[in-house]
Amino acid sequence: MFKPQTYQARRNALRNEVKSGILLFPGNTEASFNYPANTYHFRQDSSFSYFFGLNQPDLAGVIDIENDEEILFGNDVDMDDIIWMGPQPSMADRAEQVGIRETKPLVELDQFLKTALSAGRTVHYLPPYRGETKIYLSKLLGWDIDQLKGEASVELIKGVVKLRSIKSTEEIEIINKMVDVAGLMHTTAMKMAFPGIVEQEIAGTIEGIALAKAGPVSFPVILSINGQTLHNHYHGNTLTEGRMLVVDAGCESEEYLLSSDITRTVPVGGKFNHRQKEIYEIVLNANMKAIEAIKPGVPYREIHLLAAKTIAEGLKAIGLMKGDTDEAVAQGAHAMFFPHGLGHMMGMDVHDMESLGENYVGYNDDIERSKQFGTAFLRLGRKLEPGFVLTVEPGIYFIPALIDQWKAEGKFTDFINYDIVESYKDFGGIRIEDDILVTDTGARVLGKPIPKTVEEIEALMKR
Ligand code: GLY
Ligand code: MN
Ligand code: MN
Repeated sequence: MFKPQTYQARRNALRNEVKSGILLFPGNTEASFNYPANTYHFRQDSSFSYFFGLNQPDLAGVIDIENDEEILFGNDVDMDDIIWMGPQPSMADRAEQVGIRETKPLVELDQFLKTALSAGRTVHYLPPYRGETKIYLSKLLGWDIDQLKGEASVELIKGVVKLRSIKSTEEIEIINKMVDVAGLMHTTAMKMAFPGIVEQEIAGTIEGIALAKAGPVSFPVILSINGQTLHNHYHGNTLTEGRMLVVDAGCESEEYLLSSDITRTVPVGGKFNHRQKEIYEIVLNANMKAIEAIKPGVPYREIHLLAAKTIAEGLKAIGLMKGDTDEAVAQGAHAMFFPHGLGHMMGMDVHDMESLGENYVGYNDDIERSKQFGTAFLRLGRKLEPGFVLTVEPGIYFIPALIDQWKAEGKFTDFINYDIVESYKDFGGIRIEDDILVTDTGARVLGKPIPKTVEEIEALMKR
């Protein structure tokens, strides 16, 4: 955990944003896997953790702004707990670790909130995303489950987004470490990516590295020789020569819940063939040009469009696209090959704060989300600020079903050479993803370099 002062400062900053009312942060509870006592690995709610630090289930944090009170609700362990879990710190000790003096048993939260609500006070809460929390909040606040999201506090959402968007030096230090662990996961995967091995063997090995060196993976490992499926979690294929292996994986710190999210794509067997190298260099160029262009004040949507244009130009140079590339990108023709956003905020959640509402995180009054296929999936469009951590993850994919559909519809025939694209339907996909800090003057790639150029990858995979 960070020092108590860090959590105090965050709560004070939040009070300055929201200004009045009661701020309610329910922590997560255990979630059952296949029977009640067999639970998933416990994961604390990120916003609870940001303001209240503690990594145990069944806690709730309250900030009462008018009464200048901060209360941690939760129960001291009893003998049954000690028998199964060993000795545990008292609630008072836990609270002290995050700079809070007042604790109350969890059962008292209900009465506390009822008193506040009957006095006409506003209780601010964030949109819940887990079933258990929805049921709990519904009981506590009297809203129907379906109403809970709509009644969540926009003021609180905006305040939390404002604070969590800017990463502190101490947070960046942890993210750097998480990227380094991801680097080890990826270089290990590269060294294993040879014909005959089953994807699952690599996926299991790198998940083990995450657990051994940091904490859980920050999202289920995406690893496939069918990288044209963007989030492919099927790991049953045997690697064969001629395929590219996409690995999109990262980990999160068990203690701080800060993450990494890295993608590398390598040729099975360690040597790019001509066609693979051509497509790879285009994606790499888009990744590097985008990183170079990142600086405060630039809307991330512009960087996304720069990457899209780089991809369209590259594809035109090898005959897959044609015509005016500015126009092709303006109309969205590139999205057949690059049908997702360039990146997203990253932090305590790998898609940071996504549960609070993507548009609150990635857009604002200056810049509205596009409705065009491809760019519509960009999660971050707004102007960049120093302290943002985000991903840059361009890709080129040959998705047979999408190609067939667009071709049958005669879509963008001025910009796409369908005859040539046809011969790439067995290609798969390529994505290259880095985690970037926006600095005062530009951008810094977080973590130690992870092999990314053709030469670096071939050198690492050489046997
Ligand atoms: N790992 C999912 C993503 O890159 O957004
Ligand atoms: Mn990723
Ligand atoms: Mn990502």
